[in-house]
Amino acid sequence: MLISTEQLEQRVGELGLEISRDYADKDLVMVGVLRGAVIFIADLLRQLEVPCEIDFMAVSSYGSSRDSSGVVRILKDLDDSITGRDVLIVEDIVDSGLTLNYLMRNLQARDPASIEVCSLLTKPERRRVEIPIRYVGFEIPNTFVVGYGLDYGQHYRNLDYVAELPDDTEPSL
Ligand code: PRP
Repeated sequence: MLISTEQLEQRVGELGLEISRDYADKDLVMVGVLRGAVIFIADLLRQLEVPCEIDFMAVSSYGSSRDSSGVVRILKDLDDSITGRDVLIVEDIVDSGLTLNYLMRNLQARDPASIEVCSLLTKPERRRVEIPIRYVGFEIPNTFVVGYGLDYGQHYRNLDYVAELPDDTEPSL
């Protein structure tokens, strides 16, 4: 185990307060990045004390491998316009930064009033492109992690804590 359920609960609560303060007079739309961010955004949303909408994008850059291919595909776009709105992208993890780099450019082109990022986890050692992340849950070392929405071969998303995956784990297990 890397991050316990209690640590997750506490940090998500803190992030919720911080975001609520910062967006008190804004027109907040939280954009969850499927599928990994589902658990995080659901918990974060319930900690907010300001009005907000949620929308989702589905992108894929990893497939079933552990490393980013650098090729980002949009599998599902937003349902609603974000023009003139205050967008907060909610991610489970920023690793190479390639996914977020693509997403930020893509969403910026739609003329939002502002665009910021909230990521539960960040692995600074792995960064290939620098991304400004306004809200970070935890900085973690360069190990493969699963749980609380994060998967390996679509497994382990249901764990209510974040765990390191041993190097020799098969995707089917
Ligand atoms: C993961 C994660 C981020 C991305 C981060 O998504 O949710 O979107 O990788 O990696 P990067 O910073 O190296 O681009 P993944 O493609 O595994 O899909 P998932 O969210 O459906 O699990």
